[in-house]
Amino acid sequence: MDRSMVARFVAGAALLGVCASMLSIPSQAVAVRQDPPAEEPLKYEKDAWPFVKKYCIGCHNKDNAGGGLKFADDLKEADALKMKKEFTQSMRKVQRKQMPPAKAAQPGDKEKARFLDWVKKTFPKKDEA
Ligand code: HEC
Repeated sequence: MDRSMVARFVAGAALLGVCASMLSIPSQAVAVRQDPPAEEPLKYEKDAWPFVKKYCIGCHNKDNAGGGLKFADDLKEADALKMKKEFTQSMRKVQRKQMPPAKAAQPGDKEKARFLDWVKKTFPKKDEA
């Protein structure tokens, strides 16, 4: 290698180094953005109500309360929290596939899991009545 080749080699290596450091900045920014978001708390309105509305309310409402159980169609999280017995009982019925009755529309596994998850997290077993 003569002198000018060495100089070009050094300049080229330096340029590569600059490119690499420029590339590393955005990749770090992406890594930061990929941090998993904090888990959102489950809410009756979004996690349980759509299921109740679709699969239960038809037979459990103020005019038609199967087994004496009724779900209000304007039930809010705060009211739902007072219905621990009803929801833990519902959870068991759904787990055992006793509700909704076989003749009625059946929920998919995902929908079921979301509802059961809400019941479990809202009414943890240790303080079950
Ligand atoms: C096709 C009508 C129908 C649908 C849909 C239905 N139920 Fe029922 N449910 C009944 C009837 C009728 C009874 C009372 C007789 C019995 O226990 O089988 C009952 C009873 C119950 C009971 C027992 C109440 C008690 O105090 O004994 C629970 C809990 C219950 N249902 C929950 C649910 C849930 C949760 C859903 C939705 C996933 C649902 N049901 C959907 C008709 C229905």
